[in-house]
Amino acid sequence: MGIGHRKIRLISIGSKGQLGRSIEAVCRTHPSIEYLGLDRAQLDIREQGALESYLRTRPSSLPSVVVNCAAYTSVDAAESHEGEAYAVNAYGAGYLAYSALMSDLMMIQISTDYVFDGSATSPIAEDAEPSPLSVYGETKYMGEYNVRHLLGLRGLVLRTSWLYSPYGVNFVHRMRELAQGHKQLRIVRDQIGSPTYAPHLAEAIVRLALVAVQEGCFRAQTLHYAGAGACSWYDLARATIELGGYDTEVVPITTAEYPTAARRPAYSVLSSERIGSLYGIEPQPWIEGLREYYRHIGRDQHTQ
Ligand SMILES: NC(=O)c1ccc[n+]([C@@H]2O[C@H](COP(=O)([O-])OP(=O)(O)OC[C@H]3O[C@@H](n4cnc5c(N)ncnc54)[C@H](OP(=O)(O)O)[C@@H]3O)[C@@H](O)[C@H]2O)c1
Repeated sequence: MGIGHRKIRLISIGSKGQLGRSIEAVCRTHPSIEYLGLDRAQLDIREQGALESYLRTRPSSLPSVVVNCAAYTSVDAAESHEGEAYAVNAYGAGYLAYSALMSDLMMIQISTDYVFDGSATSPIAEDAEPSPLSVYGETKYMGEYNVRHLLGLRGLVLRTSWLYSPYGVNFVHRMRELAQGHKQLRIVRDQIGSPTYAPHLAEAIVRLALVAVQEGCFRAQTLHYAGAGACSWYDLARATIELGGYDTEVVPITTAEYPTAARRPAYSVLSSERIGSLYGIEPQPWIEGLREYYRHIGRDQHTQ
């Protein structure tokens, strides 16, 4: 595909979250990228014009891509904190897109499988109609709309699902923690999705940014990237327990047996075909992501 070596600036917003930290790790070793990571203390996306103001203090002649990793990600808490979730996920994303427009930057907005209602029975393509079941899903869908509307092909909505990484708290991390104090874990088996290893997603994001700068726009307004294949939370928990060598039994339960504030889709497997055909980016099987996760934390333990 001939990804050029033209230097670019990648501006990561929400840089201390698990995807933000994964992107930083990829950028730090990439010769073509000048990395600028902004965490919540440096840039609160709820403030209109915050990015433009910040960039005035850090001018650069390099073509830049903003990646919005900042989000209100507590799916259940969003049900009772609707205003806060909208402020970050919907309006905040819109403010960033407007700043990108004004500052002539391209932007990648990260979105979620939870914009779908779970009624699909086969991997979901980008043009399927969203119909969120939760406040979180609604706010993310509105964020998508704002980015598409303001930026056209200078913006990309990149949906992913079931994200985990060696950084911060996520499902895999929680399973490992629980396994240490429990003989048995009861985990939902009737929600199906695709676990995605954030460092793999981060590599895809960097490639998309490099190609977009070379070409002046994205090749699509919406793309999906998720670990290949599908499983239930129960399957993911079992794989986490097995690969981690824990002696804990995992028992399948139904969603009805584990009520939560937010409704979640029963099936939210994203098809990553389009990103494959347009960019040659092929996500690895989800189990490979989990193996890579364990290799990573193993390396960390050895270097501590
Ligand atoms: N996690 C998943 O399973 C999943 C699945 C599908 C899609 N996604 C999407 O993937 C993206 C990255 O998710 P993640 O798992 O990396 O999330 P995360 O670990 O929760 O990180 C989100 C980051 O956003 C920051 N943030 C929150 N409000 C902000 C604000 N007003 N201004 C600036 N920063 C703010 C948070 O800072 P504080 O920690 O200080 O609050 C945190 O560092 C999000 O768009 C999410 O919706 C996630």
